[in-house]
Amino acid sequence: MTDSRFQPDDWKIIETQFNPERGRDSESIFALGNGMMGQRANFEETYSGDTLQGTYVAGIYYPDKTMVGWWKNGYPEYFAKVPNAPSWTGIRVTVDGEELDLATCEVKSFRRELDMRRGVLTRTFTAVMPSGRVAEVTAVRFLSMSEPERAAIKYSVRLSGGSGTAVIIPWLNANVHNEDANYEEKFWENESAETDGIKAVVVASTRKTAFTVATAMVNSFTLNGKPSGDGAVMDKTALKAGAILTTEYSDGDTIEVCKYVAVLSSFNHPDEGLAAKAMASAAGAAEKGFDAMLMAHTHEWEKKWEHGDIVIKGDIAAQQGIRFNIFQLNQTYTGEDPRLNIGPKGFTGEKYGGSTYWDTEAFVFPFYLSTADTHVARNLLLYRYKHLQKAIENAQKLGIGGGAALYPMVTMNGEECHNEWEITFEEIHRNGAIAYAIFNYIRHTGDQDYLAEYGLEVLIAISRFWARRCNWSQEKNQYVILGVTGPNEYENNVNNNWYTNTLARWTLRYTVDSLAWLKSESSIKYNSVLARTGLDPECELNLWLEIINNIYLPVHYDLGVFLQQDGFMDKVQQTVVDLDPAERPLNQHWSWDRILRSVFIKQADVLQGIYFFEDEFDEETIKRNFDFYEPRCVHESSLSASIHAILAARLHDTDRAYKLYLRTARLDLDDYNREVKDGLHITSMAGTWLAIVEGFGGMRVCSDRVCFNPVIPDAWDSYSFIIRYRNNPLRVEVNSSSVTVINLSDTVIPLAVYGNRTETAPGEAKKFERS
Ligand code: BGC
Repeated sequence: MTDSRFQPDDWKIIETQFNPERGRDSESIFALGNGMMGQRANFEETYSGDTLQGTYVAGIYYPDKTMVGWWKNGYPEYFAKVPNAPSWTGIRVTVDGEELDLATCEVKSFRRELDMRRGVLTRTFTAVMPSGRVAEVTAVRFLSMSEPERAAIKYSVRLSGGSGTAVIIPWLNANVHNEDANYEEKFWENESAETDGIKAVVVASTRKTAFTVATAMVNSFTLNGKPSGDGAVMDKTALKAGAILTTEYSDGDTIEVCKYVAVLSSFNHPDEGLAAKAMASAAGAAEKGFDAMLMAHTHEWEKKWEHGDIVIKGDIAAQQGIRFNIFQLNQTYTGEDPRLNIGPKGFTGEKYGGSTYWDTEAFVFPFYLSTADTHVARNLLLYRYKHLQKAIENAQKLGIGGGAALYPMVTMNGEECHNEWEITFEEIHRNGAIAYAIFNYIRHTGDQDYLAEYGLEVLIAISRFWARRCNWSQEKNQYVILGVTGPNEYENNVNNNWYTNTLARWTLRYTVDSLAWLKSESSIKYNSVLARTGLDPECELNLWLEIINNIYLPVHYDLGVFLQQDGFMDKVQQTVVDLDPAERPLNQHWSWDRILRSVFIKQADVLQGIYFFEDEFDEETIKRNFDFYEPRCVHESSLSASIHAILAARLHDTDRAYKLYLRTARLDLDDYNREVKDGLHITSMAGTWLAIVEGFGGMRVCSDRVCFNPVIPDAWDSYSFIIRYRNNPLRVEVNSSSVTVINLSDTVIPLAVYGNRTETAPGEAKKFERS
């Protein structure tokens, strides 16, 4: 696991070899983003080797026609995907007619460096071209965090081994496609290219959804540091635009181009005049200049690190790993727009289509809740609020009316995209995670008003769903929920999944309690919620209370554990140590039916519920369940290990917690799953953050304060993290002998460390002995 391709470094990811076999992997690892757009680390110059070209624009999606073997009523017609957008990174270089292309050159040296502190990617290489000419290139790029519709590249090439004519062509290309298009369909139409003086733009619209993206550039050229762009000739074809600089060079000359790019979309601007606006924005960037843009950009990153860094001393691989994860989370989502969300792969690849999963609420939400201003997490909640009507329609499609909402398993605009019956129709636990995020938000921020304004509408609709999705069992004399898939997708169509039933009961109770609270706080607001939802408090609430008190939760009394679902003990009981390592991962070696029949669990299921509702269980119960389920879990979802790590730390088993944490810490950097080429595991990255803050740090929000119960892995000298409680930042520093909590806010903050209830004054650093 520690055999990394990348050099150890606190703040940088450094690759020192040109390795074409791992080209796609590195394109994912070195991807850049700024919440508004994302870019895989594709080379600027022509590359005829293997590559996945990837340029993504937030909010733009294409409804790719669903592909299924056997159609089932209720399947969605399409899967909304973030399309590969017009490409802006290209800078073609030819030297005396010969193409600079690393696939055809001898690569003498190669280095790629991602500076995570500043959000800057630098690539340097020396290539000997087939003719013997030598090109030494330095390419620096960033996607501006301060001006998120802009990006810039500085590309310099020093030529030696002769003299002659070099041609440098920064270009834009609207001729792009998605590798994962279901029917090799084209996602874009009406592509065009325009030039205007030194400006160029390509414009393309998505088919069916009619989103328009205008990508513009302005370039400046120098030869040996002196401006030389006057001779650049703008050129365009139907789909491409380029600025062609033809220049005579002598041995040792350096040609440099600064490419200023603006990417504007109709998601944020009116269609009309979009191309002109994009060109004006690119020109504005050029006027500002590379260094000034870079300075503003790095300043934004400084702020992000100031509020969300984790420092680990004594283990550089862990330090690099967690910073990489935090960096990617911040690149993916900045939280300024409630129409946007977080795809499991962010903007780093095509897999999962860039769509929203339950991952957001269950795993990623706490990261933004703790590291960003309150409005960021609020915007994530509003995203679902805005989709409420669609979720109600979705439930109706499945035959559940009465204002009940079933949020989609996968979505872009609120409509369901996923089409595997066992997930689309059955993995209904996602509804509960959305309710849980509302609760999580309010307990962290204290923003109770959210309930009256938005939260209760969602909670009521989800509660209505649970109330209609369960049924009374004459046999059991209790309410049951049949035909579901829990988080463990290695088991489908089960009855009474403990996690799902527990979440259903919890949601109903939380909704009832929240309504009671609002009624006592403000009858006007309470009545307004009733009017907006049409809730019949007598009839509906009575039914909900009846379900809360009588829902069936499977338990194995002899073992003292919650049962994952009815019949779980009928399975051949084995543990992961019984498996032949050659057969792992199971999903690549076993037939699907064998997996389904087996006892092996893909990811936390009962334990996911225990993680959410920890306060409801005593330590013995948590331990019994952990000791029963963890040995049966193959952790074949990247979401699994972190939840287990948190529970292991909660049970004071720091070694086990650390081993589990290691499975997620450098998942992508060291490509444990051999799939980083498809993109990064953004959700799992949030899980790693959780494993440190909630796992080792033992951070919890208790009723009236923030609590810490830190442990420290033996491998670390110390670690520190920053979290926000009620939007007030605190830094927690942990070493082998003490815990120090530093209040970075201007407010007194109530807290508890190892159960010692106290408070900390603004600026105070409070030290506690480690227990
Ligand atoms: C997991 C799901 C998750 C999805 C996207 C699957 O492998 O089982 O829980 O939502 O990946 O991350």
